[in-house]
Amino acid sequence: MKGYFISVEGGDGSGKSTQIRNIEAYLRERGKEVLLTREPGGTPVAEKIRELILDPANTALTGRAEMLLYAASRAQHVEEKILPALEAGKVVLSDRFTDSSIAYQAYGRGLGDMVAEVNRIATGGKAPDLTIFLNITPAAGIARKNQQDGHVLDRLELEQAAFHEKVYAGYLALAKESGGRIADIDADRPAEEVFVDIRAQLDRLFGF
Ligand code: TYD
Repeated sequence: MKGYFISVEGGDGSGKSTQIRNIEAYLRERGKEVLLTREPGGTPVAEKIRELILDPANTALTGRAEMLLYAASRAQHVEEKILPALEAGKVVLSDRFTDSSIAYQAYGRGLGDMVAEVNRIATGGKAPDLTIFLNITPAAGIARKNQQDGHVLDRLELEQAAFHEKVYAGYLALAKESGGRIADIDADRPAEEVFVDIRAQLDRLFGF
């Protein structure tokens, strides 16, 4: 594959959207063709699955069904959008990828190892070259998010604090075990400072 695949992970209030914009602008400045995408979603079919997953009305959705819907959305996204873009030499920048399922479904929902297994099938084994993990504790993240006016909470955001603690522990474990793929970035700082560390990771990956 000629392109590069970068994912960005982080809980609520981690500043993920801001940093994704920064990454995209930085890479474009350096002449890279960037395809910005997101999960769940990224293609018309996957966006329909997204609506189903995030709809607060779907309180009956079971943990396993949720895991499989995220994986279905991901399978569509990989085949229809990510792989062709990488073949074309683009940089694919994805707001979340498989690590989200490991953190939220394996650790958060307690579904364990089957989540990785299902996702190997969904992705055909495709993993990011670099994952930026914006590390902020759930308490600090929620406090930040509540300061943003008019934000309407989706079904996952409405989960209890204990769920978000488990998700966070999942991310920490993943970062530790990733063998360098996941860059653990302290996100509880001003955005400019956070981006300095992210930029260092991008410079290393691309050899800027
Ligand atoms: P989104 O509105 O994209 O939230 P965020 O701004 O936090 O990225 O909603 C995605 C939600 O779905 C988010 O709460 C995390 C969750 N999620 C999973 O539980 N598993 C997954 O595999 C993915 C991709 C997301």
